[in-house]
Amino acid sequence: MSFSIEQGEFVLIVGSSGSGKSTLLNMVGLLDRPTTGKIFIDGINTTTLNDDKLSSFRNNKLGFIFQFSNLLSDLSVLENVMLPIQIAGNIDVIEKSAIDLLKSVGLEDQIHKRANKISGGQAQRAAIARGLINKPSIVLADEPTGNLDSVTSTKIVQLMKSMAKKFNQTFIVVTHDRQHFGDVDRVITIKDGKSFEGDLPSEMEMVV
Ligand SMILES: Nc1ncnc2c1ncn2[C@@H]1O[C@H](COP(=O)(O)OP(=O)(O)OP(=O)(O)O)[C@@H](O)[C@H]1O
Ligand SMILES: [Mg+2]
Repeated sequence: MSFSIEQGEFVLIVGSSGSGKSTLLNMVGLLDRPTTGKIFIDGINTTTLNDDKLSSFRNNKLGFIFQFSNLLSDLSVLENVMLPIQIAGNIDVIEKSAIDLLKSVGLEDQIHKRANKISGGQAQRAAIARGLINKPSIVLADEPTGNLDSVTSTKIVQLMKSMAKKFNQTFIVVTHDRQHFGDVDRVITIKDGKSFEGDLPSEMEMVV
């Protein structure tokens, strides 16, 4: 497969279970290396970078949101959001940007609660804030609504779209939940090892 994505695009990756969506996302997110092929980010061929360069690329440019929010239950919501950048930087500045992000995802009342004391939808919003804390230019989300009810899914989708606009971030979102995403800039469908632009006709989609 071969495609390119512009800065600021909100792109969905869809396709049946096992078609390779997560594998693709993990390679774009520099978590896995492709055995063949190349992945360019900002004009740089990432497949030639060594492990140190890959991690710094990942930390500086990429944000991740997964299906399960994976918050650390012993930490507060705020501490979880600050976690990705706690090692480097001025703690007050980091705390302020974490609080600002938590406000923009509507969690200002939950900041000091322990992560295991908030609801699934709230945890997913906290995970979005955590995914955005290092101001990534590219946000990668694998089934971000996969674990949520319909109403919460719609809210999470709206939140991701508004964050994308606000920060001109690229969002690459893998989902089985096509209908909840409504209008997006682009849909890429993976089928039989190939990528296609747009939604496939519904009779070709597999219900999972
Ligand atoms: N670590 C692995 N080692 C070997 N094969 C794997 C590994 N991870 C996934 N696969 C295989 O690669 C293919 C693509 O898997 P992948 O997880 O990318 O699919 P997916 O499109 O994300 O599916 P789903 O919608 O169910 O999450 C599948 O056939 C899967 O069994
Ligand atoms: Mg998957």
